[in-house]
Order: sequence, then structure tokens, then C-alpha cells
Amino acid sequence: MDPVIVAGSGAGRLGEEIADLLGVIPVDCRLDRFPDGELDVAVEPAIAGTDVYIVQALSPPVNERLIELLLLLDACQRESPGRITAVLPYLAYARKDRRTGRGEAVSLNVVARLLDRHHLDRLVVVDPHIEQMEAVFDVPVTVLSAVPALAAAIEPTPAGESVIVAPDAGAVSLAEAFSAELDEQGISVLMKDRRSGAEVSTAGPALAGDGAPAILVDDIVSTGGTLEAAVAAIRSSWSPGSLSIAVVHPVLAAGAIERVLSLEPAQVVVSDTIAHEDLPEAFDVVETAGILTRTIRSLSGLASDTTA
Ligand code: R5P
Repeated sequence: MDPVIVAGSGAGRLGEEIADLLGVIPVDCRLDRFPDGELDVAVEPAIAGTDVYIVQALSPPVNERLIELLLLLDACQRESPGRITAVLPYLAYARKDRRTGRGEAVSLNVVARLLDRHHLDRLVVVDPHIEQMEAVFDVPVTVLSAVPALAAAIEPTPAGESVIVAPDAGAVSLAEAFSAELDEQGISVLMKDRRSGAEVSTAGPALAGDGAPAILVDDIVSTGGTLEAAVAAIRSSWSPGSLSIAVVHPVLAAGAIERVLSLEPAQVVVSDTIAHEDLPEAFDVVETAGILTRTIRSLSGLASDTTA
């Protein structure tokens, strides 16, 4: 089945880039708004029997993007496509995968139930916050990673010289993935204590190689609080001017860009799973259209295209 691309507003340029690489034209979507703020969504109806891929990053404004995704799913579903895959370069609400206190909602579970209710056939995500996605969703989940592209964009240092820093225990497997890409460099894991949405404190062992360049990695930068606290924790044992920061999803809430730049990193590498028009030049942005397109080709049963 030839793939059909439906791009939500959160997809940014990714939707068009994927469609370009596949050699198809994205399906026309109408994303209007009623005067009271409700969304009014429609898709070009000629999708019966097709293999539909709805591309939508759940980037800020997160709730708007989520509702838009649900409406796109519903609009597509009503036209009897052959199959629907939601391609979510960034899956929001995944950080709340369990209660950490009485009376809390488990957001990831709520989002999973909302999506599952819409008879999805499959989900494609990039570096989700938790690994066990298929334990949460009813449908098969293809998990992709931007780590190889991010690691390739980090300025090389001689093997073994840098230390990869995980700002909390949740980032260990990401740090391991970077280590595997970067000649098995050492990993240092910090301990994070989150006091509020924007405030965290971090402590941890001194870096394995004192004075070594540090590569601080995380899956998400939202307020920049985690990166800031991690840098404060390692400052005494890291060589100034040789800090690289690599983060998959640049949520970058208000004030975060300035907060990250104030850490004076030699390099900041992020992916384009969340679209930004105006990132400062200090941010290197690596593309994910290639891995997403290869996955769509493979799921659609198309021959692989090495240019994608
Ligand atoms: C949380 O565990 C995530 O992996 C990130 O560390 C967190 O979302 C970053 O958020 P912020 O930039 O607001 O500290």
C-alpha cells in the first residue's frame, strides 16, 4: 500500500520533508478554529483503503496538539482508510508514567487510553521518555532513536577522553546509547531531586575523568532546569569550555534557550522532533525525517530507499 501523509500543525516541516522523501504530496488538511477556540478539523476525503500516517509532534501548546491529533485520527477513521499509523516524533505526557504521590493522575496512561480508543493500528515514536511503550499502548509501537544522528553531530574528541553525563537515573540508557555511538566513552550518573516543574537540584559523583570534556545528555529540555542543575553539580570537575549538550527533544519552554546558553556550552545539539523557527545559531539541529521516512517505507512494504 502506498503511504499517505497527513501532517498536523505540530509536525512543522517534518511532515513535508517526509512526504518529499517518499515522493508523495501530503493530504490536504483543514485546521480551522471556531470563535470560542474549539478546533474544526477535516482531511481530504480520498483516503479510503490507503495506508495513512498522521505526523504530529505533541509539542507546545501540548493540549492543543493532542486534541488536534485526536480530531485528525477521527477525521481519517471516518473515511475508512486501510490502516492508520500515528507518527509522533515527540510524545508529550510520557514523563508522568506513575504516581509519585497520593492523588496524582498518571498522564501517560490517560494519553495512551485516548489514542487506543481511536483504533490506531500502530504508533511510531522517537526516543520516548520510557522504553516500555508496548506495555502502555494496546497497539504495536515502533521506537526510533535520534541518538546516532545527535552523536554524529558532536564535535569528536579522542576515544575515551570525554565523559558522558546522565543528569538523572532516567537518562542512563540514553547515556549508554550515546556511549555506544561514541567509542564507549565513560558515563557519570547524577541524582536529581525535582522540587517543582522548573526547579531541580542535582548531586552526584565527581566525573570519572577529572577535567575531561563532558557531554551532558538528556531526552528532553523543557525549562532547562535539569541541565542547569547538572552543570552546577559537575562544574568543579569538568574542564571549562568543553561542555557539549545533546538533547533529543527541544521542548524549550519560555526562558529555556537563555538558560541553556548561560551554561556556556561549547556545543548544543538537538533534534528537529520539535519544530522551532528561531533557534540561535549555537544550537545544531539534526534531522529525523530520514529515519521516520525509512520506517514508513518499511511499514508500508515499500523497497527501502537509501537516500531517505
Ligand atoms: C525528566 O526526567 C526528563 O528526562 C528531563 O530531564 C526533563 O524533562 C527536563 O526538563 P527541564 O528542562 O524542565 O528540567
